[in-house]
Amino acid sequence: MSRIYNFNAGPAALPVEVLEKAREEMLDYAGGGMSVIEISHRSKEFQAVNDTAEANVRKLMGVSGDYAVLFLQGGASLQFAMIPLNLRRPGRSAAFVNTGSWAGKAIKEAKITGDAEVIWDGAECNYTRAPQQEELRVSAEAEYLHICSNETIGGIRFAEFPITDVPLVADMSSEIMSRVVDVNRFGMIYGGAQKNIGPSGMALVIVRKDLIERVTDAVPIFLRYATHAKEKSLYNTPNTWGIYVLKLVTDRLLAGGGIPAVQRINEEKAALLYGTLDSSDFWRTVADKKSRSIMNVVWRLPSEELEEKFVAESKKAGLIGLKGHRSVGGIRASIYNAVTMEAVQALIGFMKDFERRNG
Ligand SMILES: Cc1ncc(COP(=O)(O)O)c(C=O)c1O
Repeated sequence: MSRIYNFNAGPAALPVEVLEKAREEMLDYAGGGMSVIEISHRSKEFQAVNDTAEANVRKLMGVSGDYAVLFLQGGASLQFAMIPLNLRRPGRSAAFVNTGSWAGKAIKEAKITGDAEVIWDGAECNYTRAPQQEELRVSAEAEYLHICSNETIGGIRFAEFPITDVPLVADMSSEIMSRVVDVNRFGMIYGGAQKNIGPSGMALVIVRKDLIERVTDAVPIFLRYATHAKEKSLYNTPNTWGIYVLKLVTDRLLAGGGIPAVQRINEEKAALLYGTLDSSDFWRTVADKKSRSIMNVVWRLPSEELEEKFVAESKKAGLIGLKGHRSVGGIRASIYNAVTMEAVQALIGFMKDFERRNG
């Protein structure tokens, strides 16, 4: 079997052991003579998958009974619309930090249905950093403060999360379960699964139960968190494949020592890659040092021609997904949980050789 080194931003690399397990169980799940995606979501076999997936998330992230853990369809993008509908009562406002492309999409969506106040905008620094605590003034009237904790495209993150009096809501799509987070500091944490924890099309939502009571009858039933919380994510036919793969990924995370263990490796991988980038003027990182993402590493080369060459040659060398997002250009390596140290070392080896030939 030949597997390439996958640096895709999402959908992204999954642990090979998870793919093998899914393959092994594909035709015959738990001796039932059917695949897990051919059985009823109401069957006891699938209920067990759903329950275990939820229990795994609670164990890994330390989620208390004060929070609902939901697996919802529509990815993280539907959350951009659902959050204001559920957590911002009519006539009230919500506060937002604009750190780049994804925070911007959440703001745009929230403005459609009500008042969204942008309290900090990174436009002046070209979205190269997250704000410091002292730069954030959140009105006590705001229903919540929304942040994107890791900007997948810009390659920046909040090294420290804001301290707020109002509930903090974080889009953690591209860093969920990559670092230890104190869930109790948040009103809600959510993320598309397709980077660190599973396939696309599904969002993991962790939301304080008291906040989901704010919703009014004007919100469509399907778009209410309360609907899905009451039915343990089985209000309608869920993304059974997504929940199943998330269960496999989280089983493996638990067996490997949980999030502290994977965080240590993630920090080592990022330190190696940033160390290489900092060691020569040939490479130019984009993010402010304090805000550097440890999941999405973004950098530039001396010219766009060299960047194109880098992407083309890296592909030939078996390193996939290194082209920066079309909106910012350059190079981006997404080094999520399932991207191994070996993959990062292969990338660094390729970079050193490329620099020697082109520097
Ligand atoms: C930080 C962030 N938020 C939201 C999204 C949107 O997720 P989805 O495609 O699941 O709607 C992405 C997707 O790449 C993302 O990186």
